Amino acid sequence: MRSKKRILSGMRPTGPLHLGNLHGALINWVEMQDPYDCFFFIADWHALTSDYENPGAITGYVDEMMIDWLSAGLDPEKSTLFLQSLVPEHAELFLFLSMITPVPWLERNPTYKDQIVQIDNKDLSTFGFLGYPVLQAADIIMYKANGVPVGIDQVPHVEITREIARRFNFLYGDVFPEPEAILTQTAKILGLDRRKMSKSYSNAIYLSDTPDVIAKKVAQMITDPQRMRRTDPGNPDVCNVFEFHKIYSDPATTQTIHHQCRHAQIGCVECKQIMAGNLIKAMAPLHERRAHFKAKPALVKEIIASGSQKARAVARQTMDQVRAAIKIKA
Ligand code: TRP
Ligand code: SF4
Repeated sequence: MRSKKRILSGMRPTGPLHLGNLHGALINWVEMQDPYDCFFFIADWHALTSDYENPGAITGYVDEMMIDWLSAGLDPEKSTLFLQSLVPEHAELFLFLSMITPVPWLERNPTYKDQIVQIDNKDLSTFGFLGYPVLQAADIIMYKANGVPVGIDQVPHVEITREIARRFNFLYGDVFPEPEAILTQTAKILGLDRRKMSKSYSNAIYLSDTPDVIAKKVAQMITDPQRMRRTDPGNPDVCNVFEFHKIYSDPATTQTIHHQCRHAQIGCVECKQIMAGNLIKAMAPLHERRAHFKAKPALVKEIIASGSQKARAVARQTMDQVRAAIKIKA
């Protein structure tokens, strides 16, 4: 018996990670490393489902994503950190699961229905894009994960995974546990322009941003839109800069700023400088680790290779069981 419960999660390497990813996922993953047996992987094949026309971009982000993970505190000594495409067993399990997954389950997947209408600059009417959740199910059940830490948007995918696992067990005998989504509680991080932080809105602060860049970006942040002049009292409760103070400044400072803003005793420029200073301080350990790994590209590649080897050993065992259950010879 495994002593710790196993969790697994993944990210598509579609760009550098920002504070939204840090608070929405990575900090949570880092905290799970001791209580759980953790598998975290870079889903490069999943990125292909939408970016198949430009695969080079995906490859370029793989090592960078691992550097972001390591900077945030993921530790290859504690967790199995791997790359999907280095464990080709995922493709074999995906094939078997494709055989048993009814197409209507995929067609009514809310993520699929949304993206097929929303994304109009790419042709997503492909078999691979429809089958996205089947590949995701393979990722998850390959390691017999008990839990999948994800944001709310991924819950339908974990639900389809449970249905596929159940169907496999029903048809071929009990091989897979049904994984549960573990919903990440997230501090809402908005972008510089108060929209959701996202690389496609150019409103993000990246883990790779230097202190200088952070200070410049903070200076551009939209504040209380009603506050026109320094002498106008502001409303911190509608101000995104204040939201950042709540995360990065100590409670006493945050309270003082709340008061000073309401009474026009502090200007937005100064208020932002204080926040930027605290944000930069909070990022210092991350920046230090980033510099360390950035200087050692061979080490990063080695971490990806050896983590993937560890994952592959587990995947091979699962596939032996799967082939035996389906009565297909390897
Ligand atoms: N679909 C996930 C996302 O876009 C990425 C992903 C792929 C994943 N396979 C997974 C997440 C398995 C959790 C478990 O964020
Ligand atoms: Fe926002 Fe600070 Fe300006 Fe108040 S003083 S509106 S909290 S930036």
